[in-house]
Amino acid sequence: MLSENTIQIIKSTVPVLEQHGLTITKCFYKKLFTNHPELLNVFNHANQQQERQQMALAQAVLASAKHIDQLAAIVPVVKQIAHKHRSLGVKKEHYPIVGKHLLEAIQEVLGDAATDDIIQAWAEAYGVIADIFISTETEMYDQAAHQSGGWEDFRAFVVARKQEESDKITSFYLEPQDGGALASFEPGQYVSVKVDMPNEAHTHIRQYSLSDSPRKAYYRITVKREDAVQDRPAGKVSVYLHEQVKEGDVLYLSAPAGDFTLQSEDQRPHVWISAGVGVTPMISMLKAHSEQANGQPAIFIHAAEHGAAHAFQDEVAAWSKDEAQAKTYICYSEPTEEDKHKQLYQHEGRIDAEWLQSILPTTDAKFYVCGSAPFMETVVNTLRSLGAQESDIHSEYFGPKGSLKL
Ligand SMILES: Cc1cc2nc3c(=O)[nH]c(=O)nc-3n(C[C@H](O)[C@H](O)[C@H](O)COP(=O)(O)OP(=O)(O)OC[C@H]3O[C@@H](n4cnc5c(N)ncnc54)[C@H](O)[C@@H]3O)c2cc1C
Ligand code: HEM
Repeated sequence: MLSENTIQIIKSTVPVLEQHGLTITKCFYKKLFTNHPELLNVFNHANQQQERQQMALAQAVLASAKHIDQLAAIVPVVKQIAHKHRSLGVKKEHYPIVGKHLLEAIQEVLGDAATDDIIQAWAEAYGVIADIFISTETEMYDQAAHQSGGWEDFRAFVVARKQEESDKITSFYLEPQDGGALASFEPGQYVSVKVDMPNEAHTHIRQYSLSDSPRKAYYRITVKREDAVQDRPAGKVSVYLHEQVKEGDVLYLSAPAGDFTLQSEDQRPHVWISAGVGVTPMISMLKAHSEQANGQPAIFIHAAEHGAAHAFQDEVAAWSKDEAQAKTYICYSEPTEEDKHKQLYQHEGRIDAEWLQSILPTTDAKFYVCGSAPFMETVVNTLRSLGAQESDIHSEYFGPKGSLKL
């Protein structure tokens, strides 16, 4: 338990964190990687270079400071982060290391303003917050390892099949190399894939949503190739998976994780809204939903550039035949003449508030949103402005969620 005095000191640092949070977390990561270069095998370097992880950590530290006297309020956020930590293999012995460098970074950035009282209060508060993460993650490790077909850390999977889904998107069907049972998962969850590429100094871990029904003897992940554009280098892992990994090769996966899941007990309409490769968790949810459809509307809204980039057209068509009240709306930003001729889409441009309002029968529904940062920000804010309840909007972002302006 933190004393009233400690709580007041932490709260008094909120304005400073609002102003200097990002500088502190940037300083923190520099110190962390200088003293613990082995952690470069776990952290995503692209997120570091684009400062997305620094923003997400600053956001989490700020939220903890604001809610230090009612930490229950941040439990959902802790769970979302803890799922990511568990899937990456973050362990309880890492917490003192992070705590030490975070405190040093606070001290360095705030200089004389970081009095002994402030540092002492943050040391205590970090201990309490770290304990919440550690106990949440311990439970998650236990569940991942002891569920039927579960395992600890990373398990070898053979690429049984590689299947092109669009010009840039390819699916990988993965079967456990040991031939053992395979843990089920909640539709919408992801796995972390660890790769050790030739000529790379570190291993790289990336998350990929599971894109098929949980009732299969394999896991399917579906990956977009991130090509180089202008000043952005090519994506390391996605390009490696597309270009180097062949059927028969082995990938290392941690057990399924994530809190973006189908709320199947909710009897109201369900609405899935995705863009580009953000379709992957939706496909898993659609398949599971049709198995228990209750006659309520089930609406799938998807944005792609054009027909050639649009993955899973056949699987969505099969879903909408299976489910009585299914409706599909497709939006292309750059349709070709052929797309127009084949009438592959209903809306040209981007998903916007006006179009969403015109096709949604109600906002008293469960919403699932997944796509790029600007897409998520537009769609989530539009749903809010149309009156959807916060607790009905479920979202997945293919990067550190705290870096989004939601
Ligand atoms: C929960 C979750 C689920 C996900 N599910 C999927 C999925 O189902 N399918 C899928 O395809 N992806 C998914 N992702 C994204 C995936 O994990 C990877 O982030 C993605 O494949 C890119 O990884 P990469 O190694 O190819 O690119 P990285 O090397 O990580 O680079 C990522 C991007 O950053 C840019 N970049 C890198 N360095 C710099 C720099 N210095 N300056 C500017 N730009 C830079 C690259 O050009 C690239 O566009 C998911 C992510 C999360 C968190
Ligand atoms: C109380 C302490 C901690 C807090 C508040 C915290 C916060 C966060 C946040 C907000 C994210 C982003 C989650 C997302 O992707 O949406 C994250 C990711 C991550 N955290 Fe932590 N974390 C803590 C401790 C640790 C520790 C001890 C480690 C181990 C070294 C660690 C390693 C990581 C890694 C590797 C990622 C993924 C980074 C990426 O993909 O770029 N964290 N953490």
